Amino acid sequence: MRILKGKSVVEMTDLNEVLEGFESVIVDIGTGNGRFVYKHAQSNKNNFYIGVDPAAENMMEYASKIIKKPKKGGLNNALYVICGAEELPEEIYSKADKIYINLPWGSLLEGVVKGNDVILENIVKVAKSSQASLEIWFTYNNLHEAGEMSRRELPALSVEYIKDTLVPIYNASGIEINDIEIVTNEELKEFDTQWSKRLGFGRAREVYRIKAVIRK
Ligand SMILES: C[S@@+](CC[C@H](N)C(=O)[O-])C[C@H]1O[C@@H](n2cnc3c(N)ncnc32)[C@H](O)[C@@H]1O
Repeated sequence: MRILKGKSVVEMTDLNEVLEGFESVIVDIGTGNGRFVYKHAQSNKNNFYIGVDPAAENMMEYASKIIKKPKKGGLNNALYVICGAEELPEEIYSKADKIYINLPWGSLLEGVVKGNDVILENIVKVAKSSQASLEIWFTYNNLHEAGEMSRRELPALSVEYIKDTLVPIYNASGIEINDIEIVTNEELKEFDTQWSKRLGFGRAREVYRIKAVIRK
């Protein structure tokens, strides 16, 4: 699989060796600049964090930090993989104890809110054998993203839409949604991703968070 080593793109094959000895593996799909992965890896040294995003350039700042010496912010428990959710590499199959998708846009957002088969299957493939968990934060509305909603034919978001439409689709893929919430701006600020901060300090808007267990 293609990963970032600083600003260079390199092939990595020996992920199993790298993950040896860590308690849990957390995968962040659509990681953006990778801040979430870096911050969590920094404060949870027993866990290994993998950020995944097709936009390599956006991950370069944090990918460069992790290869520094430890006292300069370097980490041995984080990794940035270049790829889209539609084509997750086999090397990360069956590795994740927890999967996050934080404030996606584009095809990832569309896949999540329509329950696209390929995206859901790939989430399940990445999950460890059973009881892995999934957390997705997402938002859009007619006021701010009308163009994207119409271009991608996105449904209006509501708790009812998630309950009535997404829960059964996810369930059929082995993903059991057990919690649906609308989060506050305060929670967004505390969540501490690049976009949660951006949105959290902006105007109040409805941001949905679903939590699920993956059965396989
Ligand atoms: C609004 S940003 C959020 C980034 C980060 N999760 C955060 O909370 O700051 C959306 C991210 O989704 C990524 N994305 C879009 N389509 C994707 C796909 N098909 N697979 C993986 N990531 C995707 C984009 O490259 C972008 O980095």
